[in-house]
Amino acid sequence: MAGSYSADHGRRNFLKLAGGGLGVVALAGRPASAGAQTKTGSPLKIGSVGAGRMGSAGTVEQAIAFGEVVVMVVPYTALEEIGKAHGPALAAKPLVLDICNPIARRDGADLVKRVEEQGGAGLVSAKLLAGSRIVRAFNAISYLRVESIANRPGGLVGVPIAGDDPKAITLAEGIIRGMGFEPVLVGGLAKGKYLLPGTPLAEEHTPAEIRRIAASLP
Ligand SMILES: NC(=O)c1ccc[n+]([C@@H]2O[C@H](COP(=O)([O-])OP(=O)(O)OC[C@H]3O[C@@H](n4cnc5c(N)ncnc54)[C@H](OP(=O)(O)O)[C@@H]3O)[C@@H](O)[C@H]2O)c1
Repeated sequence: MAGSYSADHGRRNFLKLAGGGLGVVALAGRPASAGAQTKTGSPLKIGSVGAGRMGSAGTVEQAIAFGEVVVMVVPYTALEEIGKAHGPALAAKPLVLDICNPIARRDGADLVKRVEEQGGAGLVSAKLLAGSRIVRAFNAISYLRVESIANRPGGLVGVPIAGDDPKAITLAEGIIRGMGFEPVLVGGLAKGKYLLPGTPLAEEHTPAEIRRIAASLP
């Protein structure tokens, strides 16, 4: 629920973990291969669009300017407006991590239908945020679970991802590993339509399960 304590708390923990992941990536030197290391070699900065009332992110413009990588975590209906207002700034980033989902009860059945008709959430995000290097990830794991299942003993939880830009994918994979998960690329942004709550890839799976499910998708 927007603005509820549990939603804000879960989102804050997710972003904290993502920030940690970015730090780990930078320390491990992986961004060099992903083309996103800071000039000073310091950890990458994460800008979150959708931090809302949990605070400290300032305006959307400030969050995008701050982040070397941007996490987009807003209702799907907000993407069009954000793309129109900030498209060029987002397109200059090496990675926009798209966590957003079109959900009928929140965004309306019409929007969900339109997104499906246009090829699903991955392709539509790419259209709305034209030029951005988008990778979809963490779309169907609850914020409230992310912290407790990170670095799971006995085998990491897999995170299905979809993207078209190889460098952005490499960068996202490093971030996700840094967060204590195993990224599993299921395909290009056209496959982003399967990274939604209620799909077979949703919830928590091992990397092997994700590969098996992904292989069965049309
Ligand atoms: N909740 C989860 O566990 C979860 C898991 C995976 C994916 N997702 C996806 O993540 C997205 C956000 O979900 P949520 O549960 O965090 O929703 P939420 O609690 O409703 O929060 C949405 C956030 O987006 C901000 N926002 C709304 N319209 C905006 C705009 N036009 N420009 C900038 N910021 C705007 C809100 O700021 P204000 O509060 O200031 O209005 C709020 O901080 C959704 O697409 C959802 O499907 C959620």
